[in-house]
Amino acid sequence: MRIALGADHGGFELKNKIANYLKENNFEVIDFGTNSTDSVNYPVFAKLVGDSVIKKESDFGILICGTGIGISIAANKIKGIRCALSTNTTMARLSREHNNANILALGSRIIGDLLALEMVETFLSTSFQDERHLVRINMLED
Ligand code: RB5
Repeated sequence: MRIALGADHGGFELKNKIANYLKENNFEVIDFGTNSTDSVNYPVFAKLVGDSVIKKESDFGILICGTGIGISIAANKIKGIRCALSTNTTMARLSREHNNANILALGSRIIGDLLALEMVETFLSTSFQDERHLVRINMLED
């Protein structure tokens, strides 16, 4: 499975930890940056990761900024992206089961690293569950 990663300066360190975790667990990683703590603008990275998912270059995306709010708002502007800002493993799981989320957004200043890695693991190992949710997801696309 190929995972696109993106973060602003607030999420840069957590992004690198997630990249290492994914590589250790045999995922392919496309890292769209940022690659330092120099100040950057999160919509740039949301667009790079969102486009990669839409093009099917990546199976899923993970986006990180300080709160996860700005970068998830930006990603959700892209047609076909369902980016779920999550703060616990239940949200990460249900975003896949009910919303068929294709990007997980995390706030590096909100959650700890271990929780973030658990949420990534949960998000990537959970399948969309129930066709009854499909009508709502199709409405999002319309
Ligand atoms: C950057 O300082 C910060 O605003 C950003 O990482 C994020 O929290 C925005 O939603």
